[in-house]
Amino acid sequence: MQRYFDVMLEVTRAHLERWASERHGLALERFRDLTFEIMARLVLGVDAGLDLARLRQLNDELARGAIFFPRVDVPFTPYGKALRALDELKRQLRGVVRARRDTPSTDALGRLIAARDESGAALSEDELVEQCVILTFAGHETTASMLASLALALRDHPPWEARLRDEQHRVRGEAPLALAHLDELDLLDATLKEIERMWPPISMCQRGVLEPIEFQGYTLDPGTTVSYSPWASHRIAEIFADPDRFDPERFLAPRREHRAAPHAPYALVGFGGGARLCIGQAFALLEAKIVASLVLSEYALRVEAGDPRLKYVPTLHPESGLPATLLRGPSAT
Ligand code: HEM
Repeated sequence: MQRYFDVMLEVTRAHLERWASERHGLALERFRDLTFEIMARLVLGVDAGLDLARLRQLNDELARGAIFFPRVDVPFTPYGKALRALDELKRQLRGVVRARRDTPSTDALGRLIAARDESGAALSEDELVEQCVILTFAGHETTASMLASLALALRDHPPWEARLRDEQHRVRGEAPLALAHLDELDLLDATLKEIERMWPPISMCQRGVLEPIEFQGYTLDPGTTVSYSPWASHRIAEIFADPDRFDPERFLAPRREHRAAPHAPYALVGFGGGARLCIGQAFALLEAKIVASLVLSEYALRVEAGDPRLKYVPTLHPESGLPATLLRGPSAT
């Protein structure tokens, strides 16, 4: 955990410093750059020797094409470009897998390489490459979406932002951010839950029916695919009072609306639930708390006025990319 914290902090600092020296930028792109580098270093275990910008570009083309219909392999369509991007991405990731095969490590790829099934068999190279494609996407795009939504929410709720800044000061004083501080940042934790509730980065999750089941008058047979929507679930008024209102206190005692029976633990499902719960939840929240803590305590983030259209492409993001200026010093003007 400490190593993850140290690397995340180092990468976040470097990215925020670069952004502050250039001042203007698209917040979503800046967060994507940042989360991509963290993913590359801590999930794939690559430090140098890989063109991260190119890898990210391929990943973006793949993400854009994945939601494009009709799915016809014509080179100039988003879907056709996505197929070519996937080929090159796999080529590059195969290189990473080969370079890593003989170096044991505890990052996600290192664990996958070391994994053995009951018969002692390891994952094949193709399977490892497939896993890397999933992790490359899932491991950064979603967290960038969450950070962009956080930036927008705090622009629109200045009193809440002031409370978060006070909390940083109360918990840390003048001390540099340390791993132990993160557990004490209750308001920030509640805020990230409210971001997850109101703007879940992933709109739809699927489950396969294994046994016949009755649900609200419908009988679902085995083999049926069922989709559930975190976005819609999080707006059920019987669970979350006044659901369209940004209100992080709903996650704090005594309310703790997400823990109330009979819906807990499936009331807040931005990271999914049950056996297929997101494997990167703790990683993503650690990362989001580090980025948010540094921005709140050491910078001023000024998101431009306007009401950007939010789209799922395929994760939720503001269509404008969220133009913003980052200034050094929390009270900079
Ligand atoms: C804010 C950030 C994130 C959000 C909102 C998020 C959300 C989700 C959701 C909703 C699912 C589907 C769960 C289900 O079907 O019930 C999922 C699966 C997954 N996530 Fe995340 N995720 C995030 C970050 C990450 C990170 C950082 C990683 C990797 C380091 C990651 C890796 C995965 C993987 C591999 C799966 C597939 C798990 C499976 O099918 O068993 N995610 N995530």
